[in-house]
Amino acid sequence: MSTIRPTAPPVSARATIVHDAAPSGPHPITAARYIDTDWLRREFDELFPRTWLFAGLERDVAEPGEYLVLEIGDESLLVSRTDDGELAAFYNVCQHRGARVMVNDRGWSRQFVCPYHGWTYENDGRLSVVPDADRFTPPVDCAARSLRPIRVEAFSDMVFVCLDADAPPLLEFLGPLVDAIAPYDLAGMTLTADQTVQLDANWKAVVDNFGELYHVEHIHPQHAEVFDCPTAEIHLYDRGHTGLIIDGHVVNTRLDIPEDPNLYMTMALQRYGIDAADYTGRVLDIRLDVQRLRREHGPRLGYDYAALSDERLTDIEQYNVFPNTIVTLQPDDAIIMRARPHPTDPNKCWWDKLSFHRQPDPAVSEAAGVTFEPHPRDDRAPAERPEHDGFTQDDIIEGRKSMTITIDQDVHLIRDVQAGMRSRGFDTARLCDDEVRVQHYHDWLCHHLPG
Ligand code: FES
Ligand SMILES: [Fe+2]
Repeated sequence: MSTIRPTAPPVSARATIVHDAAPSGPHPITAARYIDTDWLRREFDELFPRTWLFAGLERDVAEPGEYLVLEIGDESLLVSRTDDGELAAFYNVCQHRGARVMVNDRGWSRQFVCPYHGWTYENDGRLSVVPDADRFTPPVDCAARSLRPIRVEAFSDMVFVCLDADAPPLLEFLGPLVDAIAPYDLAGMTLTADQTVQLDANWKAVVDNFGELYHVEHIHPQHAEVFDCPTAEIHLYDRGHTGLIIDGHVVNTRLDIPEDPNLYMTMALQRYGIDAADYTGRVLDIRLDVQRLRREHGPRLGYDYAALSDERLTDIEQYNVFPNTIVTLQPDDAIIMRARPHPTDPNKCWWDKLSFHRQPDPAVSEAAGVTFEPHPRDDRAPAERPEHDGFTQDDIIEGRKSMTITIDQDVHLIRDVQAGMRSRGFDTARLCDDEVRVQHYHDWLCHHLPG
């Protein structure tokens, strides 16, 4: 029997840290911005071409010849690793008559060969082969007809592209997110899943969903007990980025404090050889105990936590990178999600999810003579990079696919949000204080789409 004593916790006030206010606002968050084709057109004309966009993982374009394709709205953008070892990126459009050059989402190819008439481009974009070149009068100027380059930069295994020559460099665009994300060493984690779900929802409805915790207690009951959402720390950054830090291994202080550790706490203690039944501390002290255990035992088990603060050994941080990418970070797990608009229908989008897990270095733990209970997720990490898996929202709703129970719950709900947006009975959102990130994000959208 546990000797844990329930105590009345101090409920800390929710902190919102405004690093940079939006240039104007608050702007009303109207239904039109989710359902109106004019809005979508303006986003393609004025938003997406003006900002850095997460294109994919640098590990997928590590070797010369490897490439990946970002389909976003009506653009298709090609990222390549050149024979010189540089990253390069281009509009994925043939300069003969405009066909898409590469049609797979990623792969390896010695050259990029257009499937229509065989114009061939090198991995630095140079047009090198024009079939029946002598039948072009005047001859094709290969330099002028090479793939059109766009900007590309990488940070922490994430490759970003930008169509705007005047945008700031990537690290300047990311600003404080660079120091927030870098210590988690995404490149050192194993990619465990690469999924895309097609949704009947506007792409911004997905971003909004990850811009607030107000819904968590209502649609994610499994999290309602183990997080204290109203005490989460919120960050509002320049350029429309936002951040969230929520304590891990805690309980919801708005519910009765349990006498025994919950499932997440039990698993964390078990990992360090402590049976929750023998734990003699207080439930509310477990967060600090897990930090101490991880710091003390992590290195012996093959985990390198040197770059992470004590808080980061238990807590969850989430950074929404304007305009469409969400990065969720824990010491041993990470998720990158991205919402991509449909080219013509504001009521549809694609929602990408890349899942990562940090596996311990067995050489380190063996050398230390340590045997330990592997984390359940260690078994999940595949030896090979997982293939991309694309499916529909119905595949999730009918149980054929899953993106984790939490995200499945969001998927169940979000099409109904979109349906409501189309109703004559709704015109403008009314946000609570916990949804301040949603407002900040939309105010920055308005900055790009004035009027
Ligand atoms: S459109 Fe590409 S070769 Fe003709
Ligand atoms: Fe959710």
